[in-house]
Amino acid sequence: MSESHSRVAIVTGAARGIGAAIAKRLSSDGFAVGLLDLDESACAAGAEAITAAGGRAVGVGLDVSDAAGVEAAVDRVAAELGAPTVLVNNAGITRDNMLFKMTEQDWDSVLGVHLRGSFLMSRAAQKHMIDQKWGRIVNLSSTSALGNRGQANYSAAKAGMQGFTKTLAIELGKFGVTVNAIAPGFIVTDMTAATAERVGMGFEDFQKAAAEQIPVRRVGRPEDIANLASFLVSEDSSFISGQVVYVAGGPTD
Ligand code: CAA
Repeated sequence: MSESHSRVAIVTGAARGIGAAIAKRLSSDGFAVGLLDLDESACAAGAEAITAAGGRAVGVGLDVSDAAGVEAAVDRVAAELGAPTVLVNNAGITRDNMLFKMTEQDWDSVLGVHLRGSFLMSRAAQKHMIDQKWGRIVNLSSTSALGNRGQANYSAAKAGMQGFTKTLAIELGKFGVTVNAIAPGFIVTDMTAATAERVGMGFEDFQKAAAEQIPVRRVGRPEDIANLASFLVSEDSSFISGQVVYVAGGPTD
């Protein structure tokens, strides 16, 4: 990889699950990593684990839907690690409910974290990428973008992430910045564990039932997503932009 640009990545929602796995993987790939999450202590712990393994990292607590907090967090990563040229917009929440029972708060909070959060983070980070004429943005969509019962808010947000991705790819391409989306299927995380609990199933049984519907006959792991994120932020992916890659163990429609 060319060394003319800084190798500093920001991963949102990095305290747990897919975000934590991506942060760890990007550190092994040689990036200094800013781990951002609502929970300052959880992302500090992730940053300490990376540091203990010989990497460079900082944990920063913030709400990605808060504009001032986002600016401060990106500034802090830039000051402590260097200018961020990679951004992974992974922070996400679910507030599942049938449409007729979905509250305005359920709608606003899900759209706020995914779409407003990714917009604010991308706007704050892109200036560092433009300055260096190199950058990578990876947005986390989901198979739910194709529709999923009980997820009117989440599926709208995850479909929105795809349009956001394509537009940023068009705007930022001439500055050496690629923008792509990863759309995971069933991944073993606290989020899917909470879904199992909500529908009254043990997590093991829930995973087994999900695996039976997946062509490769297994559920996904956070590392399955981190593997693709690693490629999409690498030099080797420089002619891939504006794409949505489903990582779901099979075709999705
Ligand atoms: N007006 C009045 N009644 C209505 C109605 C309407 N517009 N629409 C539906 N109803 C009724 C139905 O007829 C049904 O009534 P009956 O029970 O009398 O038949 C009732 O409302 C709904 O009953 P359910 O038991 O089906 O619904 P629920 O409210 O208990 O829960 C659910 C439904 C929210 C979908 C719940 O099953 C759930 O949370 N499922 C999981 C959702 C899911 O897959 N989430 C993924 C999370 S993981 C993730 O998101 C990661 C990723 O990226 C893939």
